[in-house]
Amino acid sequence: MLVVMLFLIILLTSDYSKVHADQIQLRAFKHQRVNCNERTVLQCNSSSLMPLNGVKVFWKKLEEKDFECDPTSSNIPPGFECNYTREALTLTISNPTPANMGTYFCCLQMDSGHAKENINVSIGECTGEFSNQMAGPKQIQCSFNGVYPKAIINWFHYDNNLTANSTITSLLNSDGTFNITSVLNIQDDQKRYNCSLWSLEQGRYLNQEIEVPHHADSSPSSRVRTQHCLSWTLILLSLMFSLRACSFL
Ligand SMILES: *[C@@H]1O[C@H](CO)[C@@H](O)[C@H](O)[C@H]1NC(C)=O
Ligand SMILES: *[C@@H]1O[C@H](CO)[C@@H](O)[C@H](O)[C@H]1NC(C)=O
Ligand SMILES: *[C@@H]1O[C@H](CO)[C@@H](O)[C@H](O)[C@H]1NC(C)=O
Ligand SMILES: *[C@@H]1O[C@H](CO)[C@@H](O)[C@H](O)[C@H]1NC(C)=O
Ligand SMILES: *[C@@H]1O[C@H](CO)[C@@H](O)[C@H](O)[C@H]1NC(C)=O
Ligand SMILES: *[C@@H]1O[C@H](CO)[C@@H](O)[C@H](O)[C@H]1NC(C)=O
Ligand SMILES: *[C@@H]1O[C@H](CO)[C@@H](O)[C@H](O)[C@H]1NC(C)=O
Repeated sequence: MLVVMLFLIILLTSDYSKVHADQIQLRAFKHQRVNCNERTVLQCNSSSLMPLNGVKVFWKKLEEKDFECDPTSSNIPPGFECNYTREALTLTISNPTPANMGTYFCCLQMDSGHAKENINVSIGECTGEFSNQMAGPKQIQCSFNGVYPKAIINWFHYDNNLTANSTITSLLNSDGTFNITSVLNIQDDQKRYNCSLWSLEQGRYLNQEIEVPHHADSSPSSRVRTQHCLSWTLILLSLMFSLRACSFL
């Protein structure tokens, strides 16, 4: 009887429901390779149930002092979401780019102490968007925009390596990707070319075959012309519809 009483007294006096910060450990997969432009969730699991009150949870990034994602704050870094439950803290990167690489920390702060864990995020390759056009009467231009890691462009006519007759430019975007553009000086007799993106890291080519339009001149590519044609059709259609709408009035 006495033992039970003592036990009850201890239970009541020690604030049993309160979890101490130093009892909580956060666990995460420390190295994560995310796919370019593919929504990703980083997660830190808690070793014991976290209290929902009197606790501040947030995410920091080693490389960016100002980075802080706090689910209770209205000031969430753009492109991120963060949340927490009693079991875990999550940080969602909606559209990962090379600029999102780095070391993230999930943090937990209570009056009784704090806990944190780090996740090292790296990114896979970004293939970018291909486009091409005539850059001059005898010049074809091809671009891969939003490529990562850095790559170069080589030109081929079947087995012929034409790269020596081309010039390449590479621009760095704020998201860490590159816009790579190359202009090839061509001769008349050949109609098809491969604009090949050579990934320095992967060591392989991504081929895009380009057909030079007949009577190649400096006019923009046929794709752009199709777009113009489409927009004129749309303008005509909308005109017809608005005329019809007017006739109802
Ligand atoms: C965290 O918990 C989830 C399930 O809720 C599990 O899938 C994941 O593997 C856990 N992560 C670690 C690092 O244990
Ligand atoms: C955060 O988690 C809570 C509880 O699980 C959920 O109701 C809420 O929708 C989540 N918010 C976001 C932005 O995911
Ligand atoms: C995280 O990865 C970078 C390279 O991506 C490396 O230099 C750094 O040492 C890593 N940090 C940790 C804590 O593993
Ligand atoms: C372009 O590359 C593809 C795939 O490697 C190949 O089949 C094709 O013959 C090449 N075309 C030209 C014009 O080089
Ligand atoms: C480069 O162009 C010149 C003529 O403009 C041509 O004679 C030469 O064969 C070309 N070189 C390559 C590698 O295509
Ligand atoms: C094509 O030529 C470029 C430079 O002229 C060279 O860097 C590249 O390795 C060559 N590629 C092949 C497959 O021969
Ligand atoms: C790279 O290309 C994209 C898409 O065409 C464009 O919006 C962006 O401004 C370009 N970046 C640079 C640095 O020119």
